[in-house]
Amino acid sequence: MNEKKGFSSKIGFIFAAASSAVGLGNLWRFPYLAAQYGGGIFLFVYIILALTFGFGLMITEIGIGRKTGKTCIGAFKSLDKRFGFLGILGTVIPFIITPYYCLIGGWVTKYTFTFLTKSVSSFSNDTFFTAYITKTWEPLLFLLIFLVCAAFVVMRGVEDGVEKASMILMPMLIILSVLIAAYTITRQGALGGVMYYLKPDFSKLTVKTVLAAMGQLFYSMSLAMGIMITYGSYMKKEDHLEQSVRQVEIFDTLIAFIAGLMIIPAVYVFSGGDSSAMGAGPGLMFITLPKVFNTLPLGRVFGFVFFVLVFFAALTSAISLLETLVSIIMEKFNTSRPKTTAIIALYTFLFAVPSSLGFGIWSNIQPLKMSILDFCDFASNSVLMPIMAMFTCILVGFVLKPQVIIDEVESAEGHEFKAKKLYSFIVRWLAPIGLFGILVTSVLAGFGLFTW
Ligand code: PHE
Repeated sequence: MNEKKGFSSKIGFIFAAASSAVGLGNLWRFPYLAAQYGGGIFLFVYIILALTFGFGLMITEIGIGRKTGKTCIGAFKSLDKRFGFLGILGTVIPFIITPYYCLIGGWVTKYTFTFLTKSVSSFSNDTFFTAYITKTWEPLLFLLIFLVCAAFVVMRGVEDGVEKASMILMPMLIILSVLIAAYTITRQGALGGVMYYLKPDFSKLTVKTVLAAMGQLFYSMSLAMGIMITYGSYMKKEDHLEQSVRQVEIFDTLIAFIAGLMIIPAVYVFSGGDSSAMGAGPGLMFITLPKVFNTLPLGRVFGFVFFVLVFFAALTSAISLLETLVSIIMEKFNTSRPKTTAIIALYTFLFAVPSSLGFGIWSNIQPLKMSILDFCDFASNSVLMPIMAMFTCILVGFVLKPQVIIDEVESAEGHEFKAKKLYSFIVRWLAPIGLFGILVTSVLAGFGLFTW
């Protein structure tokens, strides 16, 4: 195998895994879901699930990676031949996600530029975003800019590229997000919004809230797509797996929490708590937020800083996606890193084109009545990822037995797996059942839109 280098240090691993996890999921998806599903109650459910479900899945994947020392395809095959299909699934999923993830990264890049060059009042309206994504060429240009930045880092390799970039970008991200959150929660009237976000209202607890939180967790922690397996394979034996996973998990959840604090109180103040604004969904960041910045003093400056932050977070996640694809191809075909990166970048660009044009000149193509991008998102996040994670849990929980992962965690001297009982329960019961729930409900919802 050629030049498969690991991370230089434990902290390098934590930074790299955390910077894969922290991305659009935390800054864009989490706040709009939390706003939509009742604020405090969503946050509450999410945190409980992160500490159980998310923890169990992440330790499983990183454990598999470190134990086998292989990326997804090789890893599952070497554990159990019958589960080799998981390797293929884990390969297909990032191949689906990467193009459209980078496309959204391109939208963020566009907004970052727009805050820099235009007055906020000129684009803080309902039409700017839609008008932009329906264009033919401009979104592709910004996609290209975003993609070139990410590919540049991946080309330099794990230690020089991925790890260094994360070590610089992550601390910046924390500082910027704390600054912005401090700014928005000290605006007049923001307290009501802060309460909405922090205080759980148990009367709003529904099965849907739980499933939405579970799906989000999955996405946010980059689980079920081979990424954490790849990163686990780079992890050193002497690093403490359980502690590292806890740190990544806490970090990811903390950033999602702060993102909520940046956005929800601001939107709450701006809209007077109006439910249609709170339930804006995916448009919350691109449509509602600029309107909020437009009403705030120094809004343009803070808006710009905010989008720079989102840009970095999206970039580091895109890097981890590209890195996964590159390492799969390198392992399989023994090609050089620069050449493989170039090929993968070209692939990403070409396959992002349909998702982009799906909002414009190809909008008549509507698989399951969804736009092409939504369809890719649905196929990966709602169908393939739950299947992948569920079978991974079945493999580890019942075929290999949780002890295999527990032994991996405890393989270095003095490493005790503190939560091993909880872990066994999660991987055998809680996770597979929950995943089955997500799968069934999301497939039904997807096909519910489908009328012959
Ligand atoms: N976890 C990343 C986020 O929160 C998203 C991501 C999804 C990253 C899929 C890699 C793969 O944005």
